[in-house]
Amino acid sequence: MWTFLNSGRHHATRLTVLLIIIIIFVAAMSYSAVSYPLTHSASIVAPSEVDRPIDLLSGEHQAALAKHARNASLGFGDIVYISMPERTDRQDAMTLLASFTGISLKLMPGVDGTVVPPKAIPDGAPKDIPPSVLGCFRAHANAWQYLLQTDMDTLLIFEDDLDWDPNIKDTMERLSLQMQNSKIRLQPPSDYERMNAPYGLDWDVLYVGSHKHGGNPDLKDSAQAWDDPDVPGLKGVGGMGKGGILYALRLAGLSDFDIEKKRMLTPSYTTEKNTAYAITRQGAARLLFLLSYIGDLKAGDVDQDMTRLFIEGRLKGYTLTPPAFSQFKVGGSKDSDNIKVGKTVNGKGNVKGYSPYLKGSARRLIVDSLKLDNWNDYKKVTGTVTTY
Ligand SMILES: *[C@@H]1O[C@H](CO)[C@@H](O)[C@H](O)[C@H]1NC(C)=O
Repeated sequence: MWTFLNSGRHHATRLTVLLIIIIIFVAAMSYSAVSYPLTHSASIVAPSEVDRPIDLLSGEHQAALAKHARNASLGFGDIVYISMPERTDRQDAMTLLASFTGISLKLMPGVDGTVVPPKAIPDGAPKDIPPSVLGCFRAHANAWQYLLQTDMDTLLIFEDDLDWDPNIKDTMERLSLQMQNSKIRLQPPSDYERMNAPYGLDWDVLYVGSHKHGGNPDLKDSAQAWDDPDVPGLKGVGGMGKGGILYALRLAGLSDFDIEKKRMLTPSYTTEKNTAYAITRQGAARLLFLLSYIGDLKAGDVDQDMTRLFIEGRLKGYTLTPPAFSQFKVGGSKDSDNIKVGKTVNGKGNVKGYSPYLKGSARRLIVDSLKLDNWNDYKKVTGTVTTY
């Protein structure tokens, strides 16, 4: 072809042929430029973050879900605290605590048992159930109802005399990572749980603050323990709570060396006291069914009945040991709404109160943070100012 073009004999023909070649070339180039994206667009668009499928098993995803445990409801749908409407002193304290640690609480009014008419008392309740015990059951049952009336998956329920470590969010984030990789679940988590539930949903009740501890002695291996630098030293754990914690940790085979370093999760067995516990929707339904609908409130004390239901295997829970939430004790009649104010001492006051299960204390943080020595502070400043 080049020989022909270069032959020199037909300039016009050579030019025409050259032009045709150029036109074909340009047309071919522009066709491919236009048609390539049209026909192959799907395969060449870079995957955006949104389009990329989430790998539910990746460490990255689990860490992101565990971060929800740091939000204002600690990774649960909501947090309520039960408080008798007249215990405004405790409501003041809970409001301070929550605001100091970035937690948001809703008041769930406690119930005066004398207003619960006989017809509303669960069939199996003791005939002589004291009004304060009946009212306590009713308030917790109202919290269970509240969860079912929302579209949330979980609810954390507090009593109103709590304390927690200022590092509570670190502890809850660690707990979430452990529960996402639980070794003591019966079935692996569903995709919905892996996507939405920082603590999984394979439980009715999750105790994060309770009194008696310990898993089922027949299933000692059903326990999962991990390092948590915010665990209290044994010296810091006071009273009969200490024995319960030691019993539980030793039952699961933890050495004394590990005991001041680790937290542990076990299926709930002898757990007692509803100081701080979470429920799932299934848990709320099961509790209302067992203790109200079929009326199996045998002991009357709601926490004791729940313990019995765990031991009977009719309620499914996990217990965190040592607990992350502790009762705060001031001593005397202020510590319980079941004790009448009378001759009993009115307690040693909030500043001298103590929390048996904690290393750090948000109550102490409040005292330290709000302490002020204003005029002495001014005097220190004035000393330098007057030298002008
Ligand atoms: C905290 O995280 C949980 C779990 O994702 C969620 O259900 C809840 O709404 C969040 N709470 C707040 C206050 O964002």
